[in-house]
Formats: sequence, structure tokens, C-alpha cells
Amino acid sequence: MIKPHGSDALDPRFVYDTERHHALMKEAESLPSLLLNSAAAANAVMLGAGYFNPLKGYMNKADALSVAAKLHTTAGLFWPVPVLNLTTDAAAVRGATRIALRDPNVEGNPVLAIQTVEAIEEFSEAEINQMAEKIFRTLDPKHPGVATFTSLGRVAISGPIEVLNFSYFQQDFPDTFRTAVEIRNEMAERGWNTVVAFQTRNPMHRAHEELCKMARDAVKADGVLIHMLLGKLKAGDIPAHVRDAAIRKMVELYFPANTVMITGYGFDMLYAGPREAVLHAVFRQNCGCTHLIVGRDHAGVGSYYGAFDAQTVFDEEVPAGALGIQIFRADNTAYSKKLKRVVMMRDAPDHSDEDFVQLSGTKVREMLAAGKDLPVEFARPEVARILMAYYQSEA
Ligand code: ADX
Repeated sequence: MIKPHGSDALDPRFVYDTERHHALMKEAESLPSLLLNSAAAANAVMLGAGYFNPLKGYMNKADALSVAAKLHTTAGLFWPVPVLNLTTDAAAVRGATRIALRDPNVEGNPVLAIQTVEAIEEFSEAEINQMAEKIFRTLDPKHPGVATFTSLGRVAISGPIEVLNFSYFQQDFPDTFRTAVEIRNEMAERGWNTVVAFQTRNPMHRAHEELCKMARDAVKADGVLIHMLLGKLKAGDIPAHVRDAAIRKMVELYFPANTVMITGYGFDMLYAGPREAVLHAVFRQNCGCTHLIVGRDHAGVGSYYGAFDAQTVFDEEVPAGALGIQIFRADNTAYSKKLKRVVMMRDAPDHSDEDFVQLSGTKVREMLAAGKDLPVEFARPEVARILMAYYQSEA
């Protein structure tokens, strides 16, 4: 199986040893504690699950600035997005060397992880903006990722962490949330070597389904890892339990048995387009995938990114050899009325725009909210029914 990023074996920050776990839970009771923001909590979950290998914890200021500007830590590790524990107020933990990190997303704010504090440093507003501009390619406060990032606070608490649980993800998505360790183990059990990962924050429509099949066939994959985001999204995106149900139904009915693993990871969506695509590649390598599908406007939002910026970033900003995983570059995919099937538009050069059925996410949401059936060219009827039931229940 492909090696993780930056090391020969995964070093997840979750504490698997029960005695150590018990001792840390006990220690946490007497430590000063910090209530994390959701972004920092999501970072802890990703570190715990091995997805952010080989990082051991939160970056310091110099590393974060270097990663944002040059996609490398000061020690030279390739990494695309700063992994920070930012806070507005570190007064409660100043002077402490060990602190308990509390989970903002679980009732009662239980301890999520213990951090060994290496430094507490402040970013200037200009430095925060400089990082945001590099990560998101915009400083527009209407961009949901920029709005979140610039509101997290300017004080960075850096240092390694030991993770004690996986926040709400294991309880809320027991069949779907998986760590990188679990995914690697399951792939090994299945005997999969060549594996295509599919990133998604949507229920899967016909274009998504066909993309997975095209990529699987093109790289002769042993299997497809559908890897859905289970963390926070912007308003209007479809909740994870609805997406999960829709995806399970589609795989059950339209993929050969035992060729797909349906899994999810606990991270909040950044909407950072190209940079997020590179981060996606890093953590799919960590879970053992050889390929990642990157299609049109991957991890994008609004019209902030060019349709294929998330592919060209791999030529422009990822040095040769920095990653072991390969990118399957998908063209715009749509239903061809002429061929009566879903195709990549580059494979149908004789078609004009009218020969394709393409629906925007907004249009689909409007149709569902109005109780109108989605066309079969766009969604499998069984998937459309699940989405319709959700939209009607919300109406
Ligand atoms: S994402 O924010 O998680 O990237 P989404 O779930 O919509 O959004 O997309 C998952 C993957 O499918 C991404 O790689 C995206 O580029 C690709 N994709 C979605 N729709 C199309 C399409 N019609 N044509 C080509 N690629 C697409």
C-alpha cells in the first residue's frame, strides 16, 4: 500500500493505549482548559485519526506563515494549509505547559485532547489576512472560509497533542466515520492496492457516480473510497445524514458489490478550492489511496475559483515528488442527450451546449424545495426520493 505523507508508517495522535488514555483523562481534571473553536476541534480530530500525518499537533506562527506562503513548514515538510489552534483569549492557559482542550461541538464541552504547549504567539491582523489571502485566494468577507478563518482569533497555541476521542463523529456516524488507520486496515483486509478516493460534500448525483466509475476504470482500481465530509458546512448545504443515506442507496443499487467503501471524515469544510484540494490529496494518501478524483470546482464556492484551478494547483504549487498520491483530473461531466449517458465533456467534442443536461446545485435545491421531481439524467430516482423527503420535511 502507498506510504503515508512524510513518514513510513502512520502516527495517529489518538491515544490507543488504554492505560495511557486513563492517565490522561485523570490528568485533564487538574489542567487549565481551553474551549476550542470548531476549526481547531476539527484539526484535533484529523490529527487523532492519522489524516494529518506526520504532524504531531498545532503549528506555531512561523510554520503557519510559511505553510500559507510556500506550502512548506520551516523544517521543509510539504503541507498546504496551516493547522492552527487559534483563540481570541489565551489568558486562562498562559504559563501552563499542559492544557486540556475542550470540545465546542459536544454538550458539556468534554475534553477532546491534551496539548503540550510549546508557544503562545500572536498574529497581527495583517498576518492573519496575509494567510487568508494565500489560502483562499481572496479576502472577500462574503467567502465562507475567509469569514470563518478571520474570526477565529489571533492568538496561536502551538505544540503536540494527544487525542482522547473523535468528538461527535463516532456517535453520530458510527457506520460512516472512519480513521485513516481503519481505512488502511480495511483496504488491507480487502486486498486493495490501487484505490481511487472520491471527495464529496454532496449527495451523489449521476455525474458523481459516473466520475467514480470512469476513474475506477481508467486507473484499473481495485476499489473506490467514497470519503464524505461529516463536519460543518455553510448554510444551504445538505446535512451529512441525508447525504450518507443517499450515497448508500446509490452504491447499493448501482455499483458492483464489494467495490466501494463508504466512509467519512470529521473536518469542517474550508471552501478553499485549490488549497483544499491539495490538503484532500495529502489526507487521502494518509488513508492509503493511490488516486484522488479532482473535477470541476473541487472544494469551491460561488465563483471565487476557476473551474479547474483545483487541478492546475498541482502543477503550479506542488513540487514534483512532494506527494505519492496521483490526481485523476476529471473534466466537466454531464448527461449527453445524443449518447443517452453521462460523459466527460472533453470526450464529446462534437456536442454543443444544448446536447448536454447540466443542472446547477442551486437549481436542484429550488426544484426539490418546490416538490418537483429531479430528472433521471441528473439523479437516480431512489436518490432523488431521499432528497425530496428531506426537502419536503424542511419546507
Ligand atoms: S466538493 O466541495 O466536495 O469538491 P462535490 O461534492 O460537489 O464538492 O464534488 C465532489 C467531486 O466531484 C469534486 O472533485 C468535484 O470537482 C467533482 N464534480 C462534481 N460535479 C462535477 C461535474 N459535473 N463535472 C466534473 N466534476 C464534478
